[in-house]
Amino acid sequence: MAILIKNIKELIQVEEKPQPRVAGKAMSKLKTIQNAWLLIEGERIRDFGKMPPGELPITNYKPERSGARRSQLPMQKDHVEENDSLQVIDATGKMVFPSFCDSHTHLVYAGSREIEYIDKIRGLSYEEIARRGGGILNSARRLHEAGEEELVAQALARLNEIMMTGTGAVEIKSGYGLTVEDELKMLRVIQKLKKISPVTIVPTFLGAHAVPAEFKGRQGDFVDMVISEMIPRVASEELADFIDVFCDRGFFTVAETDRILNAGMKYGMRAKIHANELDYSGGIQVGVKYNALSVDHLEFTGEEEIACLSGTETMPTVLPGAAFFLEMAYAPVRKMIDAGLPVAMASDFNPGSSPSGNMQFILSMACIKYRMLPEEAIHAVTINGAYAMGLSDDYGSIARGKIANLFITHPIPTYAFMPYAYGSNKVESVILNGKFIARNP
Ligand code: NIG
Ligand code: FE
Repeated sequence: MAILIKNIKELIQVEEKPQPRVAGKAMSKLKTIQNAWLLIEGERIRDFGKMPPGELPITNYKPERSGARRSQLPMQKDHVEENDSLQVIDATGKMVFPSFCDSHTHLVYAGSREIEYIDKIRGLSYEEIARRGGGILNSARRLHEAGEEELVAQALARLNEIMMTGTGAVEIKSGYGLTVEDELKMLRVIQKLKKISPVTIVPTFLGAHAVPAEFKGRQGDFVDMVISEMIPRVASEELADFIDVFCDRGFFTVAETDRILNAGMKYGMRAKIHANELDYSGGIQVGVKYNALSVDHLEFTGEEEIACLSGTETMPTVLPGAAFFLEMAYAPVRKMIDAGLPVAMASDFNPGSSPSGNMQFILSMACIKYRMLPEEAIHAVTINGAYAMGLSDDYGSIARGKIANLFITHPIPTYAFMPYAYGSNKVESVILNGKFIARNP
């Protein structure tokens, strides 16, 4: 089955020559086609272009054999007609975006933590809550008690929610297990989600997320366990593509992070780490040392860190939802982009510091809090997010041959309306892997 979307008011983030990521000044130049059409064949984007004047000239569409030249494409035929092999969608007044690529989440978790949210309103900090046995350890207790089926059901509901707000690919971390068996349980839940959800899922092993209570005062022993027991098991069951460490004040040190990343890489897991959320932790430097695919959070980023990231393959990834929810300093994104760096943005969807995976809200936060232009923010949540998951060959833009993961908006006046009108869902219809998935009311 092929899908033709016609009369698209504006087709957003079009790439004639696909780039793995977009950096610096180029982030402010977003390519779009006004009054466009887009053809999907199978699970991929086949072609797109500008509408000819008047009705679109396609009739009796039959899938073309691969290798067909553009001149043979159905655009040259008489007029559009839906048939058994072609579904036609009229997008008059609406825009088409590539689906958001959310490269940092913890969306497999049990229950929620609004009690701590109230503690926070009363004045406790994230670190104080953590020291009292709340925070990540609270989620670890709940996860231990929950069965796999229950975890799958809760996470699937969250996945469906983010899918209907425009997310088409997402990274999900472990890290609420903190024992060998519970970390494996989390990662198996992520594998199950991969099989049942149309959203593309990338799994990351985050064994070193917090030190469990049993290891209090023996953090080194816990790190030894991550290295000698967890990593080999995760690798032998092929449960994760990436390895993460919470490298920050009060959590894991640079030396510990160094050991863990080194061990993970020997088992084929590339680094993608939490760094510089609570302090100038040295996390960025150790991430770059191991050629991490991304370093994430980055609220504490100075000249030295920016210089360290320049010219590397590591994607600086910022999580404005967490800074907003915890009322922390915002990462200096303007400085990073002005220094020529690429920037990706993700939701950090998790029960403690960002209980929302809505990437449209992240877009708004970017423009308001980081002073990113809408064009820069759109690149950060599409192609750069795809890069930060190792997916930019197939996802993150409207390009011929890429997987057809996209959404059609409700009628909107301009693409800047997307971040501007914060709080409402501008996504009307979702297409993933070339299939029409669902429509919002
Ligand atoms: O990315 N910073 C560390 N981990 C999560 C928070 C996890 C939690 O509080 O449950 C984050 O913000
Ligand atoms: Fe996180």
